[in-house]
Amino acid sequence: MSRWFLEEKGFDLDRAISQGNKFLTGNGYMGIRGTLEEFEKKQLVAINLAGIYDRAGEGWREPLNAPNGLYTVLHVDGETYRLPEKSPIAHTLYLDYRKALFTRKTTWQTAKGKVTIETERFASLEEPHLLVMKYCILTEFCADIELVTGIDADVWDINGPHYAQIALSEEGSFIKAIGTTSENHEKVCVIEGCQTDFVKENKLGIGEKRILRNLAFTAEAGKRFEVTKWIGIYTSKDAKDFEEQAKVLVSQCMEQGYGASKDLHIQQWEERWRVSEVIIEGDDVAMEALNYSLYHLQAIAPRHTESLSIAARGLSGQTYKGAVFWDTEMFMLDFFLYTEPCIARTLLKYRLDTLEGAKSKAKSYGYEGAFYPWESQEGGYEACSDYNVIDVFTKRPMRTYFRDKQIHISSAVVYGIVRYLETTGDYSILEEGGIETVLECAKFYHSLLLKRVHKAFYELRDVIGPDEYHERVNNNGYTNRMAKYTFEQAVRMCDLLKQLPKSTRMRIEALYYIEKLREQFEEAAGRIYIPEPDEEGIIEQFDGYKKLEDVSVEQVRSRLLNEKEYWGGAYGVAAHTQVIKQADVVTWLTLFPKDFEEKILLKNWEYYEPRTEHGSSLSACMYALLACRCGMAEKAYPFFLKSASAEIDGEGKQWAGLIYIGGTHPAAAGGAYMTAINGFGGVYFEEGKIKVKPQLPPMWKKLRFKVWYKGMLYEVEETHQDYSVRTLSRSTR
Ligand code: BGC
Repeated sequence: MSRWFLEEKGFDLDRAISQGNKFLTGNGYMGIRGTLEEFEKKQLVAINLAGIYDRAGEGWREPLNAPNGLYTVLHVDGETYRLPEKSPIAHTLYLDYRKALFTRKTTWQTAKGKVTIETERFASLEEPHLLVMKYCILTEFCADIELVTGIDADVWDINGPHYAQIALSEEGSFIKAIGTTSENHEKVCVIEGCQTDFVKENKLGIGEKRILRNLAFTAEAGKRFEVTKWIGIYTSKDAKDFEEQAKVLVSQCMEQGYGASKDLHIQQWEERWRVSEVIIEGDDVAMEALNYSLYHLQAIAPRHTESLSIAARGLSGQTYKGAVFWDTEMFMLDFFLYTEPCIARTLLKYRLDTLEGAKSKAKSYGYEGAFYPWESQEGGYEACSDYNVIDVFTKRPMRTYFRDKQIHISSAVVYGIVRYLETTGDYSILEEGGIETVLECAKFYHSLLLKRVHKAFYELRDVIGPDEYHERVNNNGYTNRMAKYTFEQAVRMCDLLKQLPKSTRMRIEALYYIEKLREQFEEAAGRIYIPEPDEEGIIEQFDGYKKLEDVSVEQVRSRLLNEKEYWGGAYGVAAHTQVIKQADVVTWLTLFPKDFEEKILLKNWEYYEPRTEHGSSLSACMYALLACRCGMAEKAYPFFLKSASAEIDGEGKQWAGLIYIGGTHPAAAGGAYMTAINGFGGVYFEEGKIKVKPQLPPMWKKLRFKVWYKGMLYEVEETHQDYSVRTLSRSTR
């Protein structure tokens, strides 16, 4: 039987960091790291907020962590019981990821008997601004208890502190913390209401960054004492009267009661699982890893707004600056398209709404059109700096060119829009800026094309492909192919325009000389250089790639003088070799398998795989998908499992020198999903119909899942011998 929970026993401070990611709970508005109630910033506690950022001083701009309303410390008979300081005799973390409930149970031994705390918490999926926790205390003896609980506004930051001011106050029975950011003076408001039925004394203490209640009472032996905390979180970006709204929410929910809030939350999750769960009979490990990955995608899906995207590390903290990368469109989007298309729309709407930012980035480089940020924050602000890596030897910042040269980002946006159109059949997105976005991205690539006098084709020179270890290369196959795709889609948009409502047509025609653009893009699509396989069937990743030293990943690794050395850039150990960071040509072939015969796909898989370090969690799923395409389900399986287990294993890099770079890996989760559904499940769409061509790994007895396609929900069931596709319902959208 496949389990829907994750459990870890025993306390180990070193594991506490990765547990923060593994036991994350969230609802798209906030992500709460799976840390303990008594933890503070040094244990990387975070209630990470979506879509609100700050820049403190010269540091990187990053998302905000809200003041921590969960903060609670226990004292029994005058002694403090908290981790890591006091060793427990038993300690368990438990995440029910079907219901998105986090629980913790810790027992300490004292001379008089045992002291146990049990907590349960959830970020409500029903009410995005609500976080609720129940905290229970049980002693085997009669004891004087002091529970110090309130809001800790001394939050963990990577490049903070972000709150220039923190105002702490008491409002009736509520306590409140308001942090004001240093850059834009935005406010984050946390209001906490606390319910107990036994307290003798309730004193309030207000420090510089903490507002705490001191709940004192006498505990009877063997009796459970419960405290429920209701935490409302709003920012000044949410509403004008955000403080009022937070207060009203907390009062209403307190009145409703813990059980009712919890039930509504669970119902919402059940509703999501009804469509998104993937049943794999015969392989519990795969089924658990996959559904647990999907849990993570669900927990960070922006449901509270119509225009927001997902950061590369989800809501697990401030790593990667809380920025949105190509990860969303290329890796995560399909999951939402198939299971909750309105979320896919929200993600894309974010790109449409940040088109102006992308246009000004292009302009700043002297290009036309839209050059989307490599690391996008709100408003399309480019968060990627010129210096992304610190040299371990000189300790000097190294110039990296991700921001300037990873031009394939704009094509990812186009790919997402087109995939949305094709999977949902909802063309309204084109009326809301979709057409302009595609045209502007095509204009961008057009302005970059280079035609040499003696050559008949166009080139894209000085770029970085998905493999970031080789910077500033010419004619990266993936990039050129995606630019060609962008031109083709722009031509399609010019044609589609005729079918759109008159108002949209007129708006677009006033902006662009459509006939001329169409002609330009058509010509560019036909003449952009696309590398062909050589006599051995291998497609060169970029001009001159095959002339580089051909060594194994292990040989390259053995050349490191310091294990934290960066492999890429000008002097990196991989830069002058054929060793690559992540799937590159293989990503191209996965997206466009019809470009070549199957034997070419296979040859390139076999050529590039041993040369790939898989130094990014985005890599394995592309190898898994292409392996499936080549009929190698067995070979695909370990790559699939690697993607699906990114969080369960927790083996991803956590630190780069002194900088925390860990977090969750939603792109890997999305990649694992695509492998299960499109790879093993063989789902594809043709002539407006859903079709399947299953090829299950040997031990999978049955695969069952649901997929939305063009407003209809289908249930697909597959075995090694047979399959069925059933229509379940029609969307009311
Ligand atoms: C990868 C990029 C990816 C980024 C965020 C990098 O390590 O090379 O492709 O977009 O991480 O996940």
